[in-house]
Amino acid sequence: MTTFFIKNLFILSFCSLLLSLSSAAYPSCENDSVTVALNSLKLKDVNSFEHSFRVAKLSEDIANKMNLNKETIHSAKISALLHDIGKIGIPDAILKKTSSLTKEEYEKIKKHPLMSELIITKVKCLEKYKKYIRNHHERYDGKGYPDGLLGDNIPLISRIITVADSFDAMTSDRPYKKKMTNEEAVAELIKNTKTQFDPKVVDVFVKIKH
Ligand SMILES: [Fe+2]
Repeated sequence: MTTFFIKNLFILSFCSLLLSLSSAAYPSCENDSVTVALNSLKLKDVNSFEHSFRVAKLSEDIANKMNLNKETIHSAKISALLHDIGKIGIPDAILKKTSSLTKEEYEKIKKHPLMSELIITKVKCLEKYKKYIRNHHERYDGKGYPDGLLGDNIPLISRIITVADSFDAMTSDRPYKKKMTNEEAVAELIKNTKTQFDPKVVDVFVKIKH
């Protein structure tokens, strides 16, 4: 019953997302392209599909709380929806593996931001989101991937998605680890401020969660 409810909740969220994308401000090219991409991701891996919606909502909430302009808030939402779309290109044996990844497998997983970027390349209405998607696994200390960008050289939207993405990953059930409570995950974000995460984004996120 709970699973049925959650699945229908996601379908409702998906419909309301499409309605919100259909406004005159955002062309149908964007709406249609995002829909095709998410439909494809859902067929590949429903967990990644549902994760993308949660990260999009959290990213939108953070951008709102930071008082960013409407266009930037929209860009944060769309980029978050598409951030993991490249997982379509990761073999199931790696993406759905329930035990620890080998070094080689992890190196393949690390290619997904570049694959996400590749999937939307030449889709003119999504071009502006490429850099935000490409850089969602950068770290504030410059030790992330794929470009090793440091601090505020990482696009702000990517820094927002990183915090939302990490929080959702920590608070979601995974076959290989027990999920954290919201409080434990927020404590982990604070602990990794300045190394992994932008302190300004974490500050805002903490306010949202308290
Ligand atoms: Fe990712």
